[in-house]
Amino acid sequence: MRVPIVFGNWKMNLDRTAIAALAKEIVTGLHHDCTVVDVGICPPFPYLERTAAILEGSNVYLGAQNGHWAESGAYTGEVSMSMLVDAGCRFVIIGHSERRQYFGETDEIVSRKINSALNAGLRVILCVGETEEQRDQGITKKIIAGQLTGALAGKAESDMPDMVIAYEPIWAIGTGRTATTDQAQEVHAFIREWLSKEFGTTTAESVRIQYGGSVKPNNMAALISMPDIDGALVGGASLKSDSFLEIVSHAADGK
Ligand code: PGA
Repeated sequence: MRVPIVFGNWKMNLDRTAIAALAKEIVTGLHHDCTVVDVGICPPFPYLERTAAILEGSNVYLGAQNGHWAESGAYTGEVSMSMLVDAGCRFVIIGHSERRQYFGETDEIVSRKINSALNAGLRVILCVGETEEQRDQGITKKIIAGQLTGALAGKAESDMPDMVIAYEPIWAIGTGRTATTDQAQEVHAFIREWLSKEFGTTTAESVRIQYGGSVKPNNMAALISMPDIDGALVGGASLKSDSFLEIVSHAADGK
């Protein structure tokens, strides 16, 4: 039985005061423990340490939105995975479509970042997803398989328990357009099938696959009811505690 996992990706939003307030509201408003649902938030880098202090002793994990593949060195402006651990992170998002789209992240970079994150002891939320054009061309599964191969081929089966995969169709991110539950389920089942071929059925059955892309309180119940949807990576709706906590409740109740 996979424990659902819901993470808020705050992206480059909010400020010091708003972040502290939101983190506190989530800690006090969360009434489910981690046997029922795993919950986490990913604030921007400068606020990680302060947020870690707010989350201490709670059931809310701290995650980062990105990290660098090198351990240290002359990489101006970058933050290493072990620095994220130092700041209190337990998770890191890798390969988000905005990183791929705006910052030129390739599958090879994504793969190196995963190695570095796992070495540092972080758990990874690996994002994959197709553009609208690719979906219209009927090549969604080919694109997803390519991203999975690029990111995960050759990884050890023993690394997989520390991996979460987020299927985020790019056309659904921040657009208000969610994939239908059937569209999402189809790709989630395909991802699990890929994992099964690469790492075996037992591992594939244990890896959690989140859906992301305009997840809201009013579509979460339907999404989580699908057999291969194990949670959500939430952008816009995670910036308000009431909508985020409602999504968490649906995830906890739905399985
Ligand atoms: P959204 O973002 O919920 O605002 O669509 C999701 C994401 O990019 O992770």
